[in-house]
Amino acid sequence: MSKLADFPKGSIVVSPSLLAADFGKLDEQIAEVTAAGAEMLHLDVMDGALVPNISFGAPVIKPLRKKSSLFFDVHLMIEHPLRYARMFREAGADLETFHIECADDIDATIAAIHALGAEVGISLKPATPAEAIFPYLDKIDMVLVMTVEPGFGGQSFMADQLPKLAAFRKEITRRNLNVRLEVDGGVDEKTVRECAAYGAEIMVAGTAVFRHPEGMATAVSRLKDAASLLNTKVQ
Ligand code: DX5
Ligand code: ZN
Repeated sequence: MSKLADFPKGSIVVSPSLLAADFGKLDEQIAEVTAAGAEMLHLDVMDGALVPNISFGAPVIKPLRKKSSLFFDVHLMIEHPLRYARMFREAGADLETFHIECADDIDATIAAIHALGAEVGISLKPATPAEAIFPYLDKIDMVLVMTVEPGFGGQSFMADQLPKLAAFRKEITRRNLNVRLEVDGGVDEKTVRECAAYGAEIMVAGTAVFRHPEGMATAVSRLKDAASLLNTKVQ
């Protein structure tokens, strides 16, 4: 099992979102994205309650785990992450990210995921302020900032969320915390620059990787190159 610490700080990591892949041939798509240089796989779980869409659950993730050594970055857009934490860990999650807007006790959910041996991320919707997660920052491993309304792939990047990335980067630096910063939604070779400039280091990209007209290898290297061109503005 991998850990976030396996990815050196300061380098840009691309986490392709499987939501944009061809679900009719997931094995092939994962092999291709791995060969393309992706280091993580972002797995979007939606329950039709926390977000207005349903995607896939643990039974889909489990067989993929047997065939892939990528870091499984599981994004739980569900109402009761505490109830399902074990199921997703057993399916192969290295990291479980749940939403601050969910119905469960936040501290209990963090503790349960850690007790299962997985790392913990917390995400927030565009309308939720960064400060909602500040009290938990010293207990978690990653923050996931949404730059679209969660629920669907292929939406436009919300540039008005960039100050939120900056706010997290500033707070993480101020408190000298070991928390990684991930961004998700509408990230492509153009918007990734701003994401890096505002402090994100793990870039989720669905459409921009799986549906890139020049193929996945070009997509992943363009994302890394574009992001690396900029040093972070906010430290
Ligand atoms: C949105 C998901 C995202 C999405 C990203 O609810 O959390 O991970 O699949 O897709 P793109 O990169 O196409 O915006
Ligand atoms: Zn996601």
